[in-house]
Amino acid sequence: MKVAVVYNRDKKGIINVFGMQNREWYPEETIQRVVQALKNGGHEVELIPADRFVLSKLKKALPKLSRRRPNGIALNLALGIQGKCRYTHLPAMLEVAGIPYTGSCPLGHILALDKVVAKQIFMASGIPTPNYQVFSHIDQPVQYIKFPVIVKPRGEAASFGLKVVFDERSLKDAVAQILEEFHQPALAEEFIEGREVNVSILGNNPPVPFPVLELILNDTENHIYTLEDKFGKHRKVKKVCPAKLPKETSLFLQKLAIRTFDALNVYDYGRIDIRLDEFNQPHVLEMNSMASINPASSFVYSAEKAGYDYDQLINKIVEVSVLRYAREAPEFFREERANSETGENAESFADRKEMS
Ligand SMILES: Nc1ncnc2c1ncn2[C@@H]1O[C@H](COP(=O)(O)OP(=O)(O)O)[C@@H](O)[C@H]1O
Ligand SMILES: [Mg+2]
Repeated sequence: MKVAVVYNRDKKGIINVFGMQNREWYPEETIQRVVQALKNGGHEVELIPADRFVLSKLKKALPKLSRRRPNGIALNLALGIQGKCRYTHLPAMLEVAGIPYTGSCPLGHILALDKVVAKQIFMASGIPTPNYQVFSHIDQPVQYIKFPVIVKPRGEAASFGLKVVFDERSLKDAVAQILEEFHQPALAEEFIEGREVNVSILGNNPPVPFPVLELILNDTENHIYTLEDKFGKHRKVKKVCPAKLPKETSLFLQKLAIRTFDALNVYDYGRIDIRLDEFNQPHVLEMNSMASINPASSFVYSAEKAGYDYDQLINKIVEVSVLRYAREAPEFFREERANSETGENAESFADRKEMS
């Protein structure tokens, strides 16, 4: 099949630099590694930047959809360039043009990217999440939260702008810094002292959780997973997968991850970040609808423990997306749909479920 890998690496190809600027990009090596994985999976691959020329390039790169079998899809690595809803930009353009793509649709991405909206949904769905308050200016009184508190931008990723604070004065400073640096409200959340785990998920109908992964953060200030850790500058955070937890706790966390994935309408793959308190009770921090697929990421590490090497994992993401379209848009990909209805894929998923 023809796969167009669509990505953002820079600000070329836009008309104006305007509004909130994106700070997270996939490294060039990861994009190349994904291309290699797809080629190893037998696909024909083309790389296309997600800018204002993307649709005309995709029109040339991808064949018109076949009614019988999957013949073209975009693999979405586009984290966006600017604006509040940057993860939704490419998916929305692809929806307009009728091009199938991997990962969530705009709905799932925006519910996950906006941490405040995500928490409102968690609370309405009975998904445990730390108490919080949103600050749009520094003079707001502290009303709903107890110290210590962690302050973060409302809609960022990769640990940008995090600060743990212990009193009202420092909270105001942290809020001021976020308002100025990130041009968006600050989310102040009660700090959960304890272990940190995440659960990655692959597929739909049903989504399948990988084994729970623990990040060992003991030797860090405030025990948080920082921007520097994620880019591997200072220290290597040890990842333990499967996490050393009682079996019932792991199962509970995997079920919680699926509930979170479903509550936010995320598709195909994702990762849920969770803190465990002193009683091992989980508190969901966030859902990553664009979970990193860097070879060193938690998602890839836990996928390995579930039996997928890197090439298999990337090709599986394409496969689960195609199956989703075969269900969602039954006029296309008839053969794929027939396949999934015979239970072939359902069975391999059931096996995976056993493993995790
Ligand atoms: N309420 C919290 N209690 C304890 N640690 C937190 C809390 N919120 C965030 N952290 C720490 O900060 C890291 C990044 O926060 P997160 O909400 O996952 O945002 P992102 O990864 O999108 O920047 C987490 O992995 C965790 O180590
Ligand atoms: Mg996170």
